Formats: sequence, C-alpha cells, structure tokens
Amino acid sequence: MNYNEAYELLKAKNQLHILRYYDELDNEGKESLLKQISDIDFSILDNLHAKEEKKESTIVPIKAMMLEDIEKKRDEYKSAGLKAIKAGDLALVLLAGGQGTRLGFDGPKGTLNVGETKDMFIFQLLVEHTLDVVHESGTWIHFFIMTNVKNHEQTTTFFREHDYFGYNRDYIHFFRQEMVPSTDFDGKILLEDKGRICLSPNGNGGWFSSLERAGLMDTIVKDNIKWINVFSVDNVLQGIADPVFLGAVLKEGYVSGGKVIKKADPHERVGVLCMKDGKPFIVEYYELSEEMAYEKNERGEYAYNYGVTLNYMFPVDKLMNLLDKKMPLHVVKKKVPYINNEGELVKPEEPNGYKFETLALDMIGYMETCLPFEVVREKEFAPIKNATGVDSIETAKALLVKNGYTL
Ligand code: UTP
Repeated sequence: MNYNEAYELLKAKNQLHILRYYDELDNEGKESLLKQISDIDFSILDNLHAKEEKKESTIVPIKAMMLEDIEKKRDEYKSAGLKAIKAGDLALVLLAGGQGTRLGFDGPKGTLNVGETKDMFIFQLLVEHTLDVVHESGTWIHFFIMTNVKNHEQTTTFFREHDYFGYNRDYIHFFRQEMVPSTDFDGKILLEDKGRICLSPNGNGGWFSSLERAGLMDTIVKDNIKWINVFSVDNVLQGIADPVFLGAVLKEGYVSGGKVIKKADPHERVGVLCMKDGKPFIVEYYELSEEMAYEKNERGEYAYNYGVTLNYMFPVDKLMNLLDKKMPLHVVKKKVPYINNEGELVKPEEPNGYKFETLALDMIGYMETCLPFEVVREKEFAPIKNATGVDSIETAKALLVKNGYTL
C-alpha cells in the first residue's frame, strides 16, 4: 500500500488522523505505518455501531455438580480421568495473552513474583500444579501457552531462564494470538507512537484458531489429543489437568465442563453457567436480573449460585467445528496508553478507549452440554486481577498461605 492508497482508505473510514505524524517519520517508519494500515481489519469497528438484536430468549439454570456429589464418586472419576491422561488424551492451554491492565504490572502477568522469602512466580505455581498430575499419572501432558505479540519474547525468555520450572521442554509450546486496533470512545483508532497504531490482543476466545494458525494442530492430531483443559493465567490456586474434573465430564457423558465456585453472594461479579435457548451459556453478573439472582431451586438454594472460574474442559472434535465460525466480538472499555494531539504519551488512570475481544466463555455456546463442576472456593480460587482490594495480590497471597504455602 502506498501513501495515496492509505490516504484514500483512511479518508473513507474517517481515520485520517493516523497519518498525522507521517511526515515526521523516517523511511522505515513510513513503510511500517503503511503496512500497519493495510493490515487493519476495519470491519471490527462496525461492532461499535452494531445495535444489539433484541431477541426473546429463555434462560434457565443448570444444576451444578456439587462438592458432595463429587465426593461420593471421587475415586471413580479420578481413575477415569487418570486413565485418559495416561492414554495421552489431554492437553492444556494456558491463556497468557492478556494485558492485565487492571493489575498494572509491568511485564507478562505470569512473571509476577508473589513470594516473599523465595521466588514464587505465577507461571511457576501453574507449572507446579500441573507437575503434581504429571507425577501422579506418570505422563507428560502437552502444555500450550498463548502469548501476544507484545509479551511473547518476555514470556518465552522467562520460561527458558527458569528452565521451564522443571517441566519437560518438549511438551511446552508457545503460540501468539492476533492483535486488533484499539479506539477512543469516538471510534478513532489510537496511536501508541507517531508511527505505531495501538494494537491489543483480540481477546481470549480465539485461542483455538490461533493455535491452529501457529501450526500446532499437527501435535494435537499426531498425538491424538481428545481433550483440552483451558485456563487463565491469574488464578494461582486452580487445579490444572484435574483428573477428577476430566473423569466427571467423561463418566457423566457431558460434552464439556467448567469449574465453578459457590458465589459469595447473589450479586458477586462472576458469570454463571446456565442454559439459554437450550444451549449452555454464561450469563454475566451484570446481565443477571434481580429476580434471577434470588431465584431458588428445588433444594432451596439460589438457582444461579455457581460462578465460573475460567477453567474449562473442551473436546477437540467440537473445537475443530468452531474453526470456521465467527465468534462474537465484544467491545470492552479499557485503559489504553496513547499519544495525544501534541504527540505526547498519555497513560490514562481510567478507561479511555475500546478494545475488541472474543471471549472464551462464548465457546460454551457451541457445546451441546457443559458440566458446572464445583470446586472448593478457598482451595481453588485465588485470581490476581487487581493490584489491591478484591481479587488482588494480597487476597491471593492470603489464600496461598491458608493452603499451606510458605511465601
Ligand atoms: P482478563 O479478562 O482478566 O483480561 O483475562 P486481561 O487482559 O488479562 O486483564 P485486564 O482486564 O486488562 O485487567 C482472563 C484470562 O484471559 C487471558 C488473560 O491472560 C487471562 O489469563 N487473555 C485475555 C488472553 O489470553 N488474551 C486476551 O486477549 C485477553
């Protein structure tokens, strides 16, 4: 794309400000900016104006498999899960492509050290949880790690420098997710430098297609992997490759599963697994009506009482079907550093723009069934989202200590 073509395109799209500093760039910078412009998928901006189709839908709760149900069949589930793991049926996908803007930590979130007297990095904890299952099953489990263009180098270097925390290097695979431009609240694409468009990761819902684009499907197919346990980077206590979870999904004949926790109160800010128009669906806390929040089931408990923890079990064959589907793109308000009209870098304290993201939770809707599998909240839910307060470094550290860790 040459300058004139870029100019015409941006004029038509009402985004001419992107060329504001073009003349100040050296030749390499000019070329790079033109390339970035030609790479922009402008169709994502349509999502800013898309009116949500108001469709009547029916949402009903799904009965969670509760702790006492699981306890009764723990041995049976565990041996089924371990059998599948030993057969090489399970692989893992760690979602580490987020930018962690709420935490505000400078670096990939997984490199955060929560130790006090010794190193205890988030990545290290997640690998160590997995190693427990590797040792128990006597089987190495493929461990895929999704990064983004900006944190890829730091993430891979970090793992290498820490010798993969004792994991078998041959079973660790990194892949990058795609990036999309961010805009201000008026829909203008932001610049992060005079010659660089603000790009942000395209959400955690595209992990399977990014994995495929990275050429990693060969490993999945060659090793005949049937299940993928996908999970977030920030929950430092979660059970990964949990044989009881996998065994419960298998034994009870569910298509997929999600680890859930009992909500602290009816309005806790977590999504709830339910059924919408006959398909599994996660209703976000802000979509939960007052009536639904307090609805009781036949056991006399809140019907929408189990929140998702971003730890899912998906079957590979169903994920394959998803590859040609267009996942819904969500418009999310976030803090996006940008350069202003004076060419100065601004690091906003409050959300100032939109990012466009697909969400892993939308994948649930493509599965016929999804098992809400309860885990003990205090033992498996310690997410680090914020620097202080709720779901923060402090709360996660306190839970680690409560679970016997010496920080
Ligand atoms: P969050 O929803 O917490 O988003 O991600 P985030 O970007 O990490 O953090 P904030 O909202 O800016 O503070 C949940 C999980 O999904 C991953 C994150 O790394 C985390 O494990 N994720 C999120 C991706 O892998 N890619 C993305 O584009 C977004």
